[in-house]
Amino acid sequence: MGYKAFPARGVVFLLGVFIFSQQTIAGDLSYSVPEEMKRGSVFGNIVKDIGLDVSRLSARKPRIDADGNVKRYCEINPNNGDIVVADRIDREVLCGKKASCLLKQELVLEHPLELHRINVLVQDINDNSPQFKKNMIKFEIRESASKGSRYRLDEAYDADVGQNTVQDYNIDANENFNLNVVAKSGGGKYGELVLEKELDREHQQELTILLTATDGGSPQRTGTTVIHVTVLDANDNAPVFSQAVYKSSVAENSPVDTVVVTVSATDADEGVNGDVMYEFDHITDETSNVFSVDPKTGEVKISGPIDYEETTVFEMQITAKDGLGLVSSCTLIVDIVDVNDNAPTIFIKSLTNPVPEDISPGTEVGIINVQDRDSDTNGQIRCSVQQNAPFKLVPSIKNYYSLVTTGQLDRELVSDYNITVSATDEGSPPLSSSKTVHLSVADINDNPPVFEEQSYSAYVTENNKPGSTLCSVTARDPDWRQNGTVIYSLLPGEVNGASVSSYLSVNGDTGVIHAVRSFDYEQFKNFKVNVMARDNGSPPLSSNVTIETPS
Ligand SMILES: *[C@@H]1O[C@H](CO)[C@@H](O)[C@H](O)[C@H]1NC(C)=O
Ligand SMILES: *[C@@H]1O[C@H](CO)[C@@H](O)[C@H](O)[C@H]1NC(C)=O
Ligand SMILES: *[C@@H]1O[C@H](CO)[C@@H](O)[C@H](O)[C@H]1NC(C)=O
Repeated sequence: MGYKAFPARGVVFLLGVFIFSQQTIAGDLSYSVPEEMKRGSVFGNIVKDIGLDVSRLSARKPRIDADGNVKRYCEINPNNGDIVVADRIDREVLCGKKASCLLKQELVLEHPLELHRINVLVQDINDNSPQFKKNMIKFEIRESASKGSRYRLDEAYDADVGQNTVQDYNIDANENFNLNVVAKSGGGKYGELVLEKELDREHQQELTILLTATDGGSPQRTGTTVIHVTVLDANDNAPVFSQAVYKSSVAENSPVDTVVVTVSATDADEGVNGDVMYEFDHITDETSNVFSVDPKTGEVKISGPIDYEETTVFEMQITAKDGLGLVSSCTLIVDIVDVNDNAPTIFIKSLTNPVPEDISPGTEVGIINVQDRDSDTNGQIRCSVQQNAPFKLVPSIKNYYSLVTTGQLDRELVSDYNITVSATDEGSPPLSSSKTVHLSVADINDNPPVFEEQSYSAYVTENNKPGSTLCSVTARDPDWRQNGTVIYSLLPGEVNGASVSSYLSVNGDTGVIHAVRSFDYEQFKNFKVNVMARDNGSPPLSSNVTIETPS
C-alpha cells in the first residue's frame, strides 16, 4: 500500500523574542501514514521538509522528544534527516474507534533551540475481522408469531474504523426468514430476522441459520455466528430502556463501588418473560476492569482504578434481556473529570558545565523543560530559580526555559553553584517539585601575580659567602592550577658594569634571592635589580618589582 507525505511548511509561527534568548521559529510537519508499517520505514525527511542545512544536522542534535507520557513512535536519522518508524503503530490501540487518528510527536533541534510538531495522521488498514460476541444466538419463537415479526440479532464488532468496519450482514437461504439490515443513528449496523413464512412446530422444531457479517475493507473480511431458533408457544415484549443514551461523569481516582449511574429497562411481559437481566455488550478489557453492572438492579459501579491521564471518556453498550432472550440495548457515556494528581516534572535538556568565568551576562548555560500530565489549569506550570545566584529562567517555546546568567561570574569568588529549579502547577491544591542543577565555573587566567610589597630592600654584608640569602619576594595569584602558579625570574640588567646574573640569582619557585659570589664592598655598594613574577597560564600574566639596597 502506498502513502503520501505532505510536509506543511506554511504553518510557521513566531512564539517569542526575549532579551537574552535567540529567536525561535517552529513549524508543524504533517504526514499521513498507514498503520502497521515496518520499523525502519522512512516516511519523511526533516532536511527537505523544514529546509535544514544537512552538514550542520548532527551538530543540531535532532531528536524526537519523548519524555513523560509521550511514547516515541518515530526517530530521526541524524546523518540524513530521514524520519523513520521506530515502534509499532497500531491504530486500534492508539485511537480505538476514533474516526481520525492523529499521533503527535515533537522534534527538538539545538543551536538554536527549535521545536517542531510532527503530526502523523494514522490511516486505518483492514486488519480486523468482524466478530460476534457469541458463536450462537438462540431464539425461542412461538409458532403463533405473525408474518413480519422482527427479531433483533446481536451486532458484530470490528475494531477498525470507517469502511473497514461492519458494512453488511447475510443469512443462508431458508424457508422462513429474511434478513433486514438496520443502520443505527449513531453509526453501526445490526441485522433483524424478519418472519416471511409462519413457523410450523409440527413440521420443524428447530432451525439453524448461518449469519455472516462483512466489512467494507479491501480485501474484505467476514465473521460468522449461528442463529438457532427453537419453535414453541409466546413472549411478545422486549425490555425497553428508559433512555437510549445515559450520560454521567465521575472524578478520576474515585473509590471502588462509587455508583456511576443506574440504567433501567422495563418489560411488559409477566413472570419469567418480564424478568430483566443487565450486562455489558462488546466492551474492551480496559472498560471491564473499571466498571461493573449489577445484572439485577442495573446499577453501574466503579470496580477499578480510573486515570484521567489514560482515558478521558468511556463509552459502553448495556443490554437488557428478558427471561426468554428478547434483548434491547442502550449506550452509557461516562466522562472522566481531571483531578490534580500529578506534580510537574523537570527535565534538564542540556547544560554547559563547567562554564568559563568570562562569559558575558545573558549567556544561555542550560535548557530546561517542565511537564505535567494533568490537564488545563492542573497542568499549567510556573517555573523559577532561587534569587541568590546570578541566574534566571527566560521562557522560551512552550514549556521550555533557557537558564541564562544575569551577571559576570568570578571563579575566584564563587567556584560552583547549586541552582534549584522549582515548578508549581496551578491546580487546587497546587503540586510542586524541584530539581538542583550543579554548575562549576571554569578558570580563565584573569589575574596577574601580585607582589606582597611595592618594593623590596636587600642588605648586603661585606664578604658574604656565595649562596647566602639576600632577601625574599612573594607574589600571589588566585587563579587555578597553572593559571595561578607563580615563577620568579631576574630581569636582565647591569650591576657594576656586569650582568645581574653574575652577582645574583633567584629561586624560580620560592622567590629567595641568593648571592652568586662574595661582594667587594668597596666596589659594590648598592644595586637595583628587577624581579618578574609570571604565572604559567597561556598567555601568561606577569608583574615586576624592584629590589634595592637602602641608600
Ligand atoms: C552543592 O551541592 C553539593 C552536593 O549536595 C555539595 O557537595 C556542594 O558543597 C554544594 N555547593 C554549593 C556551592 O552549595
Ligand atoms: C587557565 O586559563 C585558560 C584561559 O585563560 C583556560 O583555557 C585554562 O583551562 C585554564 N586552566 C585551568 C587549569 O583551569
Ligand atoms: C616586566 O618587565 C618585562 C621586561 O622589561 C616586560 O616584558 C613585562 O611586560 C613587564 N611586566 C609588567 C607587568 O609590566
